[in-house]
Amino acid sequence: MSKRETWATRIGLVFAAAGNAIGLGNLLRFPSKVALYGGGAFIIPYFISFILLGIPLMILEWIIGRYAGSKGHGSMIGIMGEFFNQSYFARIIGSLGVVIPFLIVCYYIYIESWTLGFAFLSFFQKLPTPTGVSDPKLAMMPFLEFYRNYTKPSFYAIFFLIITLSINWYILNRGVIKGIEFTAKIGIPALLLMGIFLSIVSLSINNWKGLEGLYFIFKPDFSKLFDPQVWVEASGQIFFTLSLGMGAIATYASYVKKNEDVLKTGLYTAGLNELVEIVIGASIAIPAAFAIFGASSIPELAKEGTFRIGFMSMPAILMSLPFGSYLSFIWFFLLFIAALTSSLALTQPLIALFEDEMKFSHAKAVNISMTMVSLGAFLSAFVPGFLDDLDFWAGTLFLIIFGFIEILSFVWLFGVDNFYKELNRNVFLKIPKILVYIFYGISLIFIGILFYFWTVIKLPEYFGQLSWNLIISRTFIVASILLLVLIAIESKRRYFNL
Ligand code: PHE
Repeated sequence: MSKRETWATRIGLVFAAAGNAIGLGNLLRFPSKVALYGGGAFIIPYFISFILLGIPLMILEWIIGRYAGSKGHGSMIGIMGEFFNQSYFARIIGSLGVVIPFLIVCYYIYIESWTLGFAFLSFFQKLPTPTGVSDPKLAMMPFLEFYRNYTKPSFYAIFFLIITLSINWYILNRGVIKGIEFTAKIGIPALLLMGIFLSIVSLSINNWKGLEGLYFIFKPDFSKLFDPQVWVEASGQIFFTLSLGMGAIATYASYVKKNEDVLKTGLYTAGLNELVEIVIGASIAIPAAFAIFGASSIPELAKEGTFRIGFMSMPAILMSLPFGSYLSFIWFFLLFIAALTSSLALTQPLIALFEDEMKFSHAKAVNISMTMVSLGAFLSAFVPGFLDDLDFWAGTLFLIIFGFIEILSFVWLFGVDNFYKELNRNVFLKIPKILVYIFYGISLIFIGILFYFWTVIKLPEYFGQLSWNLIISRTFIVASILLLVLIAIESKRRYFNL
């Protein structure tokens, strides 16, 4: 068996893990969800989900990844297999844990390419300065259009998509240490610096009027506590932002040294991610919009989701300040770095699958994976509604389902005693066993309830509106699942020379 790579340094590992978790979820998705669900009303279920779902699942993924990695498996297919006698059934269930990050990266990387495109346009002062326009946000409309204008995809959009795909390809090809770890060691400190800088800029707009935006986000509001929709969205955000429920963390964890303290690393990952989400993520877009457009604009801004806040309001706001195009450049470059370190993490499970289970060379594994990702990314660019449909299924529902499967299998079916033994191996803190029962019991029930609400509330919205475009996206989803199931089966044959 060829030797698997392991992270070169502790700090590199922590940065890589932080790069995995910190992404567009923190800087775009979080503010737009907060705005949509009324600030403080969202934050309470958000924190509760963080404690009850985020932390337990984060620790679980690190534990199982370390264990399976030491046996040569880094993708969920191999990990599930490792825990359950390499049975076909376990491997097939595990294929869901490879297909989810794959489906996500297909659209994620396309949005990543916009951030690069917008960074470029800002830097070369090609974005409009919104003076004399009645609604400054709208000045950006044509620029957004040329990204989302499907009938005639712009040259720019495709150009930056190709560049973004190539950058990812190149880094992944260099491998875990020279590629991913190296990128994170430069990217994460840069991201923190740019993030803190922009937070200060945003909060200080109009004599620190931005601070009111923070008040909007964090002022507790109990009125919506019984609205299941808010709970579903808040916990969905926890899954997405922490990269949980899809095996992406477990894949990174599979590259740790055998005796790494994964409890510590897991807590660092969660902590750094939350720092960037609720300190930096909260301090930029919403406060800036508050200061410039006023409180009443916030829910309306959020209606069109992530794109409006990130790609229209933010550049419009920043362009109205001194050195606006450079500020706008920093904003988009910040988004790009955050997205890049996440798209690497979203692709790595697929690479690990080809390398560990199919025994392909690294270069071959990367080339096949990136070809698949490129296909998905081009579909995201050319098929209207593709992006949103994938986000709906893979970016939300599947995460909840797979999170449930993970807790059920690795704690309860594998056995609390066995899980507990792994949990206590080489970690700085001995966790009492009773806590395992409590946390993983509660989290299982919690996800069960969420799933119930999700199917009742959200699912019906998505049926009965089938169009050709949706048929394309759903065929893509089903075909990807089938492909990975086939690989799960075929790779077992290869692995055991059956
Ligand atoms: N957590 C990342 C974000 O917040 C997205 C992501 C999900 C990355 C899953 C890797 C794996 O944007």
